This record gives sequence, structure tokens and C-alpha cells, in this order.
Amino acid sequence: MKTIICKDYDEMSKKAAEIITKQVKEKPDSVLGLATGSTPIGLYKCLIKEHKENGLDFSKVKTVNLDEYVGLGEKDDQSYIYFMRDNLFNHINIKKENTHVPESNKEDLKLDTEKYNKLLDDIGTRDIQVLGIGVNGHIAFNEPDDKLNLRTSIVDLTEETIEVNSRFFEKKEDVPTKAISMGLEDIFDAKCIILLANGKSKKEAIDKILNGKFVDTNFPASLLHLHPNVVLIVDEEAYNG
Ligand code: PGA
Repeated sequence: MKTIICKDYDEMSKKAAEIITKQVKEKPDSVLGLATGSTPIGLYKCLIKEHKENGLDFSKVKTVNLDEYVGLGEKDDQSYIYFMRDNLFNHINIKKENTHVPESNKEDLKLDTEKYNKLLDDIGTRDIQVLGIGVNGHIAFNEPDDKLNLRTSIVDLTEETIEVNSRFFEKKEDVPTKAISMGLEDIFDAKCIILLANGKSKKEAIDKILNGKFVDTNFPASLLHLHPNVVLIVDEEAYNG
């Protein structure tokens, strides 16, 4: 795992944006795997700036997202499709039909996962996958467990994740308890994975990855050691505490 230590969140975001900008310039029809959460917001701001100021062209780019809460529609401002439109898609020249966020409305959960797996199979290998990390080591919504899903599945969120994510909702009871999430095989199918982490709250998780020297499904991010091309971009707070 290659590690880039940045002085702060802005530098982390810029570094990640540089890698993605280079990728899109070199291969205009790149397939990008994208993530939600507070971590990649700065990266998306940098990409919007690249588009607006330097004409970075997203017209042929395709994107697939990692996960979505079950039961929140696209108009719900806490849904991840809303987040992606609000923080990136509405501000660049990407075609709506080229953007993909898993959907699950509670009616037929199995069909929802099958649909997303088919989409992933059809769209092919991602050139870059952006990942955040949960304080409990989750990647996408693959929560710590004795077994991890290989493909897109419906997952129960852990109490810890519900607690952490409740900061975005009016009250904790509003946080959905289930999500649809890409599995480990799907995540690993990307040619390059950019793992982003910033802030003190991520220090313990980053320490486990860098110094742990183990893989453990009860700390899903540790499995990233098995991927040949992971770039960890971390700020000093997450690196040093
Ligand atoms: P965050 O979430 O970016 O909001 O910290 C990361 C994650 O849970 O994967």
C-alpha cells in the first residue's frame, strides 16, 4: 500500500483530485468508483474546480457508487444519490445516464442487489475506486463481521455506524438500519483504489492498517492489503493523532 501523508484535509483532497484528473485526461471514458460521506467532499470540490476553470471533461466518464441506504428515495437529502448530485454530478458535464448509485426501496431487496451486480458486470473494471473508511474499519457498508459479502448485498448497519452517521440526521431514529452495498470482490475489481482518511477520529483505524500487519474480516479495511494497487492518502491528524 502506497501512503501519501498530507498536512491537512485540503491537501488530501487536492492530491486525490490530481490522480483522478490525470486519469480522466489520459482516458476520457474512464470508469470511476465513487464514495459518499464527509471525507470525499473536498475531492469533489476540487474536481468541480478543474471542470469549471480548466475544462476537465466528464462527458464520457461513467461512475458507479459504493452504497445507498435502503428506503430513502432520491429526493431525500440524506440519500446518497442526492448527495452525489448535490456535491458533484450537478456541477460537472457528466451525463446523468452514466452515473450509477445502487437503489433499494424495500420492495424487492434481492432484485435490487441483482440489478446492481448486473450493472457492475456490464460496466466492467473501474479505473479508480475512491474509498473512505469507517471508524470501525468498514469500507462501503461492509461492516466488521466473521464473513464479508463478495458481491452487492443488503447489509444491517452496526450500532456504531448508526451512531456515527446520526450526525447527518435530525435524530438517531431517522438513520436507516439497512443499506445496499457493493461487496469486497466488486471493490477489489478496481485497477486502483484511493483510500482517503482525515481527522483524529480515523487515527486508530489508520494505525491498524499501517501497523497491524494482518487481515481480518472484523476490520474490513485490513483486506485492502491484498489489493496490488492501493494509495492511502491521509492527513496528519489521521496519521499522527
Ligand atoms: P465519512 O465516512 O467520510 O463520513 O467519515 C466514511 C465511511 O463511513 O466510510
